[in-house]
Amino acid sequence: MGVEIKGQRTAWRLEDSLAELERLADTAGLRVVGVLEQRLDRPNPATLIGSGKVAELVALRADTGAQVVVFDKELSPGQQRELERAIGDQAVKVLDRTALILDIFAQHARTREGALQVELAQYEYRLPRLTRAWTHLARQAGGAAARGGAAGVGLRGPGETQLEVDRREISRRIAHLKRELEDVRAHRAQYRRRRLEEAIPVIALVGYTNAGKSTLLNALSGADIYVADQLFATLDPTTRRLTLPGGREVLITDTVGFIQKLPTTLVAAFRATLEEITEADLLLHVVDITHDNVELQAAAVMQVLEDLHATEQPIVVALNKVDRLANPAEISAQLADLSNSVAISALTGWGLPELLARIEEILTEELVGVQVLLPYQRGDLLGLFHQRGVISRESHVPEGTRVTGKLPANLLPRYRPYLAPVFERDHVVDPE
Ligand code: GTP
Repeated sequence: MGVEIKGQRTAWRLEDSLAELERLADTAGLRVVGVLEQRLDRPNPATLIGSGKVAELVALRADTGAQVVVFDKELSPGQQRELERAIGDQAVKVLDRTALILDIFAQHARTREGALQVELAQYEYRLPRLTRAWTHLARQAGGAAARGGAAGVGLRGPGETQLEVDRREISRRIAHLKRELEDVRAHRAQYRRRRLEEAIPVIALVGYTNAGKSTLLNALSGADIYVADQLFATLDPTTRRLTLPGGREVLITDTVGFIQKLPTTLVAAFRATLEEITEADLLLHVVDITHDNVELQAAAVMQVLEDLHATEQPIVVALNKVDRLANPAEISAQLADLSNSVAISALTGWGLPELLARIEEILTEELVGVQVLLPYQRGDLLGLFHQRGVISRESHVPEGTRVTGKLPANLLPRYRPYLAPVFERDHVVDPE
């Protein structure tokens, strides 16, 4: 059920948002048997859509025998209940976009961290609904908490309604999940500190869902990551080590796909994953240029980055899936408007060398130029220079290896003892 409300209109056309909802439904394992839409001047508080449309929906539901009705707009708990009542079949569920996305997330979480994040988001989504839907839930023996197996009727204190028990139990579960996620984040922070000490730059892949992030990570690093023509196939961050053409090592990490109308509670629940983005040295924005809504998708990604305050880092845009374009001239036209863009095909590998070169160039801009004379017993520092820095000249003299190049600023202290002599010798002041 697509709904557009005057005054709340976004740049997305109703048809496009509905088409995306169909893809989401498909990914969740639902088969779409009917579509309805309505454009409204103002929402109907009771059912969101008008009463005539409700009747139409009930009839279409009965004709098709559909078991689920999905709204492409957030429903209040009351509206959800009212619509379920109108349909009148207890087996039929009414969901909104957020609930559908949560369901997909729940199906795709594979690591402990992913599962924790999804569970937290689900409870946070459920809690306000539980509050306002109390008459409904109080009638159901057990409710959400009992389904979770944690709080039976027997635990109910004197004078407490089932709703209060449910709410308390869910709040307790939320607090517990948050603590566990805190542990995960602390662990990640420790890991990040280590990475920082080693001065390995981190590149975070960002992009609209299905843009091709996982495919690109696979292509670049030879990692075997799950790739599927589905929305949100990737939920858990995957990090791989990669050597750039100039020999410099970087870490590249995949993140959860973005989507329009992503509720803020969901973004908050995925904080641990999304922190990878805010902490990265460079963002690689993967865009599917063959998608009809490419610009809106890119804008939705930029909006989430802004919400995360990840606007400081340099961004390289990878215009992906060019193998699908009949006319490659289209690419240059698109490139003209976008700075720092490289056209690629993650699938065929086309353009990947250029992409890596561009990344290397930008990362190099962040380095500091140095000249050092490393004694032969400091082979470790020479190795580190090769790995993390960029060398423009290297020569061997009796005292050691003379190196001119660029290094990450935080590695400089280690090279400081070897800086001055070379510098002085190379800049001999003419006595005249
Ligand atoms: P999420 O997990 O939803 O965030 O998706 P993702 O961005 O990781 O996309 P993924 O790599 O799973 O790719 C989505 C679909 O696009 C898959 O069917 C890929 O095979 C396809 N795809 C990715 N890159 C290319 C490309 O360069 N060309 C073509 N033709 N298809 C591609």
